Amino acid sequence: MKTMIGQPLDRVDGRDKVTGKARYAAEFRIDGLAHAAWVTSPVAAGRIEQLDLSTARAAPGVIAAIGSGDAPVLPYREREEPAPVDPEWGTPLRVFQDDKVRFAGQPVAVVVAETPQQARHAASLVKLRITPDQAHTVFDRAEPRPSHGKDDDDNPGVESRGDAEGALGTSPVTVECFSAIAREQQHPIEPHATIARWQDGKLTLWDKTQWVSNVRTEIAHVFGLEEEDIRVVSPFVGGAFGSALRTWPHVAVAALAAKVADRPVRLELERRSMFTATGFRPRSQQTVRLGAESDGRLMAISHDVVTQTSRYEDYTESLTEPARTTYACANVWTRERVVSLNTNTPCPMRAPGIVTGVHAMETAMDELAEKLGMDPVDLRRINHAERNEDDDLPWSSKELLACYDTGAERFGWSSRSPEPGSMRDGDQRIGYGMATSIYHAKRSSASVGAVLLANGTAVVRTATSDMGPGTYTSMTQVAADVLGLPPEAITFELGDTRYPQAPVHGGSITMASVGSAVRAACQGLAEKLMKAAREASSGAFAGLDADQVELREGYMTRSDGEARQRLADVLRDMGQDQIACEASAEPGEESENYASSAFGAIFAEVRVDPAVGRVRVARLVGAYDVGRVINPKIARSQCIGGMVGGLGMALFEQVEWDERLGRVMNANLAEYLVPVCADVGELDVTFVPSDDTIFNPLGAKGLAEVAICGVAPAIANAVYHAIGQRVRELPITPDRMLAMRS
Ligand code: MOS
Repeated sequence: MKTMIGQPLDRVDGRDKVTGKARYAAEFRIDGLAHAAWVTSPVAAGRIEQLDLSTARAAPGVIAAIGSGDAPVLPYREREEPAPVDPEWGTPLRVFQDDKVRFAGQPVAVVVAETPQQARHAASLVKLRITPDQAHTVFDRAEPRPSHGKDDDDNPGVESRGDAEGALGTSPVTVECFSAIAREQQHPIEPHATIARWQDGKLTLWDKTQWVSNVRTEIAHVFGLEEEDIRVVSPFVGGAFGSALRTWPHVAVAALAAKVADRPVRLELERRSMFTATGFRPRSQQTVRLGAESDGRLMAISHDVVTQTSRYEDYTESLTEPARTTYACANVWTRERVVSLNTNTPCPMRAPGIVTGVHAMETAMDELAEKLGMDPVDLRRINHAERNEDDDLPWSSKELLACYDTGAERFGWSSRSPEPGSMRDGDQRIGYGMATSIYHAKRSSASVGAVLLANGTAVVRTATSDMGPGTYTSMTQVAADVLGLPPEAITFELGDTRYPQAPVHGGSITMASVGSAVRAACQGLAEKLMKAAREASSGAFAGLDADQVELREGYMTRSDGEARQRLADVLRDMGQDQIACEASAEPGEESENYASSAFGAIFAEVRVDPAVGRVRVARLVGAYDVGRVINPKIARSQCIGGMVGGLGMALFEQVEWDERLGRVMNANLAEYLVPVCADVGELDVTFVPSDDTIFNPLGAKGLAEVAICGVAPAIANAVYHAIGQRVRELPITPDRMLAMRS
C-alpha cells in the first residue's frame, strides 16, 4: 500500500462543508436558544454617564438586558500564567465591569431576546450617554515607547549584535528605507460567534476559536469556575487568520447573557463589529538602514519599528526578527516600540510581525541591489545565512538556495531587464520583483488519543482546531500510515475540550506539534494491539516476536506473509471491544541545538497602467521550503491563500481610521477591500525537496505563515521595477501611484 503521507488526498471534511452538514459555532441547534445583540460605544474615550435599558427591556421578545453599571460583578481572576496568545502587558477588557470607555466599538450593554431581530431592535432602543475624554487617535502624534512588557530589560525593545551604527558609517554602500503598512483586519467569512448554555452551574460554549482549551481557561477565570465545569466545542472554524487565538470579550458577554437570561444564548458578531470586537494587524512604521561592501555583502542592518497598540494592553509582535535572521551580517541593531491609541487591542494576523518586518527588509534589499547594480537574487544569495545568527544555532534544515533557483527558473527571472521602466507592453509598464520569505518553525507539546473500534476502524482525537488548513485531512493521513489503515477507516476528531490537550492552532505549529502526537498515539496503539496478539494464548500471532508482526493494508500481518487478519477479527479473537492509547509528543533537545524555519522565494510580475495608477498582479511564483509536505493538494491551497493574502496586503487592505473620532470608517466588506478572483493572476506554487526530521519525526516545518511572507515586497519591488519610483506605504493604491508622478 502506498503511504498516505505525500498524497493529494481530498479534504475528508470537504463534503460535510459543502453540504452544510458541518456545524459552525453559530449553527448548533440548542433547545430554548435565545439571541443576543450588543450595544457598543460610538466614542473612543470617556465615561458612561447614563445607560438606560428600560425601553429595551420593554420591547417585544426581550428576555433580559444588562450593561455597564448594571451587570453582575464577575470575579475576573488573574491568570497566573498569561496565555501565550495574550498581549505581554495589560489587562483584558472586563465586560460591563466599569463605566470607562476605552475605544469606539467597546461593548457596553447586551440585550437577549427570542429572535435575533428582536434583540437587535431592542439594542437600538438602549439610551446611552457618554461624557467624552480626550482620545488618543493619531498614530503620528503619539509618542513611541518600549512596551511595558519589556520594562525588565536593560534596553527595552532593543536587540543587537556587533556595532551596526559603526559599520553603517564605514560601509561603502548604504540605503535607508522607510515603509508604512496600514492596519489590516482578518476577515474570515464565518463571523465570530458564541453559544453559551448553563446547566447546573456548568457551562458549555460553542465557539469559533483556534484554541478550545484557552477559551475554557479564560472563561474559568472570568467567572471564577473550575476548568472541569466548562466544556468548549468548536469542530469547524470558517477561517480565522489569528482572530480566534485569544478569548475575546464577546465570549464572556455571551456566557454572562446566558446566565442573566437563564437561557442558552447565541451572540453572533455583525461584520461591523468584527473590526473592533477582536484584534487586527497593527499599523506599522519601519525604517531599515543597510550597509554593504561594494560586492554586496551586508556589513550592517538597522531596523527600527513602531506599531500601534491600545491604551489598556501592550500588544507587540516580532517585526525585527527577519532583520536578525534572514541574512548573514555581523552588525545588527533592531528596536521595537509602540504607540498607544484609543483603539481595541491588536492581535496576531497571519505571520504576525514577521510578514511586516519581511516587507521592510526585502524592499530595502531591493533598493540596495539597485544601488549596487546587482541582480536582486544574486544579492540575496551572497548574503545567505548559513546559520541562524540571532540564536547562534545551525538550521535544522534549509533549502532556501533551492527556492531561489526553482522560483527564478519557473518565473523566467533571467528575462528581466534590470533597468526600471524598461519593460513595456503597449502603454502598460511591466515590472518583475522578488523577495525572500522566512517564518520560524515552532513546536509545542500535544496529546492525542487513538482508539481501535470493534469494526476495525480507528478514532483519533485531540483538542486542536482546523480553521481551514486541512488539519482533519492531514492528521488522517498521518494516522492511516502508522496504523496501516486506509484513510476511510480513520475518523479524526478535534475541537472539544473533552479531548486530549493540544496547543494553540496558530503560528504554523499544528502539523509539527499535533501531527507528531498523532503519530505517537497511533504507534502506541499499533504496538499495544500487536503485543496483545503476540501474547495471546492462541491465534495467528500467538508467541511471535515483535519483529514478526506488522500492520499493513488494513491487516495485522505476519512478516513472513504466512498469515494475516483484519484488525476487527484480531480484536474479536482477543475478546476486546476496543483498544485505546493516549500519547504526547513534545520538542526535545533539538529545540535547543537547532533553529528551525520555513523559507521561500517569491517572484511577482505586475502590469501598471500609469495613466490611472492601476497595478495588476499578472503572476506570482512561490517556491517554498516547508519541510516534508504531508498533502500537496491542501498545501498548495494554503499557499495560494497566503499569496492572495499578500496580494491584498500589497494592493488593497487597509482599515481606514478617522483620526478625529478614533473610529473605523470602512467597517464593512464593501469598503474594506480584499482581492477578488478578478484581481488575482496566475499563481504558481512549488515545494522544493525538503525533509526536516531533526525538527520533528514527520519532517514537516509548517506552511501557513511562510506562504504570505515576501509576497507584498515582491509585488512592491515589481511596482518599483515597472515605474522606477517607490510607493512607501501599503497598500499601493491608485491614488498613491498617481501621487508619485507629481
Ligand atoms: Mo495565525 S496569526 O497563526 O492564526
